[in-house]
Formats: sequence, C-alpha cells, structure tokens
Amino acid sequence: MNSKIFAVAFIFFFVLISSANAHIAFVNPPFRGNNDDTMRDPPCGGSNEVNTTAITDFPVTDGQATVDIGHGDGVLLFNYAPDSNSTFQSVSDNVTVAVAEGTGPKPYTVPINVSKAGAKIGDQGVLQTIFIQGGVNFTYQCADIKVVDPNPKAANTASSFVGISEVALFIIGLTSFVMTNL
Ligand SMILES: *[C@@H]1O[C@H](CO)[C@@H](O)[C@H](O)[C@H]1NC(C)=O
Ligand SMILES: *[C@@H]1O[C@H](CO)[C@@H](O)[C@H](O)[C@H]1NC(C)=O
Ligand SMILES: *[C@@H]1O[C@H](CO)[C@@H](O)[C@H](O)[C@H]1NC(C)=O
Ligand SMILES: *[C@@H]1O[C@H](CO)[C@@H](O)[C@H](O)[C@H]1NC(C)=O
Ligand SMILES: *[C@@H]1O[C@H](CO)[C@@H](O)[C@H](O)[C@H]1NC(C)=O
Repeated sequence: MNSKIFAVAFIFFFVLISSANAHIAFVNPPFRGNNDDTMRDPPCGGSNEVNTTAITDFPVTDGQATVDIGHGDGVLLFNYAPDSNSTFQSVSDNVTVAVAEGTGPKPYTVPINVSKAGAKIGDQGVLQTIFIQGGVNFTYQCADIKVVDPNPKAANTASSFVGISEVALFIIGLTSFVMTNL
C-alpha cells in the first residue's frame, strides 16, 4: 500500500469512527431533522428551520426528553430558545453519558424544565441537545415543541367535579327548602 492510499484510508477510518462516536438522535420529542453531514453545525445540526410536521406538545415543567446515544463518553446538555436564531438557555442538569463501543444506541431520559428558559404555556419553541465530547460541542440536534400545561386532564376533572358537586348541593338544598316549606 503506498502512503497516499494509506493516508486516505486512515482519514476515512477516522471520520467513520468519530461520526459513530458522535451520533445522537432525539427520540422524544422527535427530532426536526437528523443529518450526519451537518450534525456538528450549531445550533441545530443543520436543521435550522421549524419542521411543521414534527411539532410536539411538551409540558412547561416536569417534562422529559429521551435521546439515543450511538457510542461515546461525554456530557449531554439540553437548552431551549423560542427559535433557532435566539439565545439558547439551559433547561436541565448536565448528564454524564457513557456508551461503550458496540453496546449502543442507548437511550438517556432526562428531566426538563423549559420554564427555566422563560417558556410559557402556548409558546412554540426549540428544544436543543448538545453532545459534548472531550470538552468540544460535538453534535447538535433540535426538536420543535409546543409548550403545554403539564396536567390539563387533572385540572379539568377537578374543576368539573367541583362544578357538579356545587350544582348537586344547590339542588339538594333547594329541594329540602321546598319540602320543609310545603
Ligand atoms: C420532519 O419531521 C418528520 C417527522 O418526524 C420527519 O419524517 C421528516 O423527515 C422531518 N423533515 C426533515 C426535513 O427532516
Ligand atoms: C434565522 O436567520 C436567518 C438569517 O437572517 C434567516 O434566513 C432564517 O430564516 C432565520 N430562521 C428562523 C428560524 O428564524
Ligand atoms: C454544564 O456543561 C456546560 C458546558 O460544558 C458548562 O458550561 C456548565 O457550567 C455545566 N453546568 C453545570 C451545572 O455543571
Ligand atoms: C422550573 O423552573 C422554574 C423557573 O426556574 C422554577 O420556579 C420551578 O420551581 C421549576 N420547577 C420544577 C418542577 O423544577
Ligand atoms: C457549547 O455549548 C455551550 C452550552 O450551550 C455554549 O455555552 C458554548 O458557547 C458552546 N461553545 C461553542 C464553541 O459553540
């Protein structure tokens, strides 16, 4: 093998290994785009526009995000911004990631509080994850989210329950008033 072919083979091998290391994928909420060629480009791994078919409801507090890590050791960060041109702010603790070669992809599920970045119910915004390896922001990916009430069903059930019992008490009270006055 001459040295030129060896060099090309070596670079190809290195690129192959490092992209395998760096591969991450939002599982929940789903990614807006996942492109191996541009995954190192901030802020969204080359997918800088909203993906209107992938906007997912996400609770304003007590949210959870799941990201698959292909392979590698590092730190996973989560940030939020109203759009991909705005300043992203941290919405989780830093998560230490360790996925041995051949054992991935491994899912990491992380508690998220988008209200830490000022998100409010009804907002649409961008949840960003960054995989840091060796202190370098290695891989970026984003998901489009619609910020929602964390517990809408419980709130509705509680208020209609109160409503029904108030009406029931009123009818019972009215009935006994009418009966005692007959
Ligand atoms: C937008 O999201 C949908 C659903 O997740 C996905 O199938 C599609 O590939 C995404 N579009 C782009 C441009 O990545
Ligand atoms: C971000 O800014 C660029 C350049 O001004 C613009 O082309 C792009 O549409 C903007 N994207 C969003 C999501 O606002
Ligand atoms: C999380 O990691 C980022 C990037 O390395 C760093 O700037 C930040 O201080 C870390 N946060 C915590 C709480 O350790
Ligand atoms: C979420 O963040 C907000 C703003 O920092 C804070 O007031 C609230 O206690 C947090 N909620 C949870 C469940 O961590
Ligand atoms: C890496 O990501 C962190 C956290 O979002 C950010 O503060 C920092 O500016 C980024 N560094 C580079 C070189 O983009």
